[in-house]
Amino acid sequence: MYLGVSVRPRLRVRTGRHTTGLGLVLCTRQARAELGTRTMLAMAAMGVLPSAEDKPRYVARMFGRIAHRYDLMNALMSLGMDRGWRGIVADEASVEGARRVLDVGTGTGQVALTLRERMSVGASVVGVDFAEPMLRAGSPSVAGAVHLGAADALRLPFPAETFDAVVSAYLVRNLVDVHAGLREQVRVLRRGGRLVVLEITPGPGGILRPLFRLYFRGIVPLLGRLVAGESEAYTYLPESAAAFLQPERLADLLRDAGVQDVRVQRVGLGSVAITSGTKG
Ligand SMILES: C[S@@+](CC[C@H](N)C(=O)[O-])C[C@H]1O[C@@H](n2cnc3c(N)ncnc32)[C@H](O)[C@@H]1O
Repeated sequence: MYLGVSVRPRLRVRTGRHTTGLGLVLCTRQARAELGTRTMLAMAAMGVLPSAEDKPRYVARMFGRIAHRYDLMNALMSLGMDRGWRGIVADEASVEGARRVLDVGTGTGQVALTLRERMSVGASVVGVDFAEPMLRAGSPSVAGAVHLGAADALRLPFPAETFDAVVSAYLVRNLVDVHAGLREQVRVLRRGGRLVVLEITPGPGGILRPLFRLYFRGIVPLLGRLVAGESEAYTYLPESAAAFLQPERLADLLRDAGVQDVRVQRVGLGSVAITSGTKG
């Protein structure tokens, strides 16, 4: 598994013993990979995608390669809608009165920054990711507003019930074990806190389906090659989305993990789902 490294002085993280610059001593826990393994076998069968064993390293390296163009590609691919989706994540997380919020798989920290902008002075947002180049590629305003650190989403370096809200955007599809990842997020969330998951769906149905497939599997990899110099990462994107869970199934996993009142909002013509609820 990927070893976290310190990328910002504000939050120092080492995997294994799991100690942080916040002075927290943390518990470790073995992730079980039942669901993840099944999902990954299906994904591997599609050819483009890594095996479950290779996935963490593959994903970390891939995001390392595209980090310098990540934000631009996000804006282009979503036709500028990504900003509005981040706003919905913040709305669903109800961060206005929150003291501590966690963004898992924060990447360049855009979601974390949106959360921070809505929170009061003295409140803090922590963003963790296992791809150091993604953390470094964030804008200076992110580094000034968010506590960034390296950590594996399957072994978050925080004690139970640390945060008032835990969010992730475009993360869970990349995990070897989605269920374990959600349980880990719920573990560090306080009772009554909000969990929000934004993720790409396998795609809309009906007449939009062929158009979506053409765009996602044809235009997006081309855009990736032209803008980021990377067609592999932007081939992985539509293939991993196609192999991912339908939003209703993801909502079931949230419920299994202990989240109540789960709600699914589809945006981007059904290409993205924002799933949220409250820890019971
Ligand atoms: C598609 S990017 C999303 C970044 C950001 N959340 C956003 O909204 O743009 C997915 C991020 O999740 C991170 N990631 C994937 N698997 C991870 C894991 N097991 N632990 C920590 N970060 C992970 C990747 O390194 C990458 O930065």
